[in-house]
Amino acid sequence: MEKHSLSLVLSLLLFIPLFYGGTTEAAGTLDGSEEWGYVEVRPKAHMFWWLYRSPNRVEDPSKPWPIILWLQGGPGASGVGIGNFEEIGPLDANLNPRNSTWLQKADLLFVDNPVGAGFSFVEDKSLFVKNDLEAATDLTTLLEEIFNRNESLQKSPLFIVAESYGGKFAVTLGLSALKAIEAGKLKLRLGGVALGDSWISPEDFVLSWGSLLKDVSRLDDNGLKEANSVAQRIKQQIQNGQLVEATNSWSELEQIISSYSNSVDFYNFLLDSGMDPVSSLATIEVSKGIALKKYSRYLSSLRSSSSAGGGDGDGDLDTLLNGVIKKKLKIIPDNVAWGGQSDYVFTAMAGDFMKPRINEVDELLAKGVNVTIYNGQVDVICATKGAEAWIAKLKWEGLRNYLSKGRSPLFCGNDRITRGFTRSYKNLHFYWILGAGHFVSENYPPAHKNIFSSVLSVSCLIIDTYYEHHRIVVRLAQLRKSERTIIILGR
Ligand SMILES: *[C@@H]1O[C@H](CO)[C@@H](O)[C@H](O)[C@H]1NC(C)=O
Ligand SMILES: *[C@@H]1O[C@H](CO)[C@@H](O)[C@H](O)[C@H]1NC(C)=O
Ligand SMILES: *[C@@H]1O[C@H](CO)[C@@H](O)[C@H](O)[C@H]1NC(C)=O
Repeated sequence: MEKHSLSLVLSLLLFIPLFYGGTTEAAGTLDGSEEWGYVEVRPKAHMFWWLYRSPNRVEDPSKPWPIILWLQGGPGASGVGIGNFEEIGPLDANLNPRNSTWLQKADLLFVDNPVGAGFSFVEDKSLFVKNDLEAATDLTTLLEEIFNRNESLQKSPLFIVAESYGGKFAVTLGLSALKAIEAGKLKLRLGGVALGDSWISPEDFVLSWGSLLKDVSRLDDNGLKEANSVAQRIKQQIQNGQLVEATNSWSELEQIISSYSNSVDFYNFLLDSGMDPVSSLATIEVSKGIALKKYSRYLSSLRSSSSAGGGDGDGDLDTLLNGVIKKKLKIIPDNVAWGGQSDYVFTAMAGDFMKPRINEVDELLAKGVNVTIYNGQVDVICATKGAEAWIAKLKWEGLRNYLSKGRSPLFCGNDRITRGFTRSYKNLHFYWILGAGHFVSENYPPAHKNIFSSVLSVSCLIIDTYYEHHRIVVRLAQLRKSERTIIILGR
């Protein structure tokens, strides 16, 4: 991965603008290993993307090299920033090579989705997307611009890999892309959809929180009772189509759980969120609108504020992206700051945030698309218990056979330590990742050169990144003790 830190430096000198004309502006490194650009997905709505070509790419017609499209959560968090520099890209936030980069096994396409996240921006505030379907339409337009002009890319299967809220974008995009492919508008091979700790059915997640946290001693009976009563109200509100109200109740439920659990970390029930209990109580007082805004700010500033506390530093993402990276990319307009509009993205989607996307998973399964779900054992926000609950609601004809199958243990490297379990039936694959919380992220000693097979169906690489992230999160939780940020949901 040496090559990539070098190319960062080189690209400052060897920048080549590639003007596609029309609605697309792009640039890249001279050696072609990286390319990035904007697509104007709607008039005055600009989406930023960044493609890394793997140095390991092999041209083998019988086993075409995969491309991974990474969709961050939030909504409003930046794939180009967080997914790339904090989780799976070739360089970490200190611009050191990342051993566990998924670039070893695939080309990586990061996008700042939806418009308003990261470097993406709108020229008019009415242009933020209001729901997952609008986001999927924009993403499909982006894929048309990137793939239709390059026959070589069209031969690579595209795997849509999502984290957290990104799962709702992934399944709607999967269907929208298939439709565009069938209509001859998009030239692309869809390889599959992978959902990492994904917010597919909010109702099932909020209903799982109370009993999960009670079982692991983080709530008592009183906390359980109160949590379940709000969760039931959320279920009712979702059924009645009162989705904005459901979003507000969700925020209330998190406050209740924080208060009864002495601030459990919603990404890992073994940890405290590290927030100051006084400030968390204070947040209940402020208006919901402000609480939500605060929440989405948290998404984009998690790492920056954490590392500001000292330590050996994961780098400051804001400084990095708005500094050396913006300089490298050259095409970011002066008045556009990375993360500058991310606060608005969540607010604009408040009416869709709690809407389930189980039907979309069903449709993908019925169309024969490989759907891979992976979940961290100690996550709360998108708890495995909740994921299993929504899977049990699938109408897919293979469901009964899937549920009755046994699981296989997963190992990485030569030790026989159980790292997880997996179960597959036809095109549905589930991975239980032991010891992992909500996020997949960062370097892990590269001991395990395991397969990232065509459906991503494995993944010691995924498991490695989870374990490394666990280590980092523990450290950050310690650093964050004095912080006053309110933690709410996943990215
Ligand atoms: C098309 O994509 C391939 C594979 O990533 C790349 O090698 C090639 O340079 C691209 N061609 C153009 C014209 O961008
Ligand atoms: C789904 O994944 C399996 C490998 O696990 C592969 O053999 C199959 O071709 C994939 N199906 C599709 C439609 O891509
Ligand atoms: C990354 O891999 C290299 C070579 O195997 C090794 O020397 C280095 O210690 C690894 N870095 C980390 C952070 O694990």
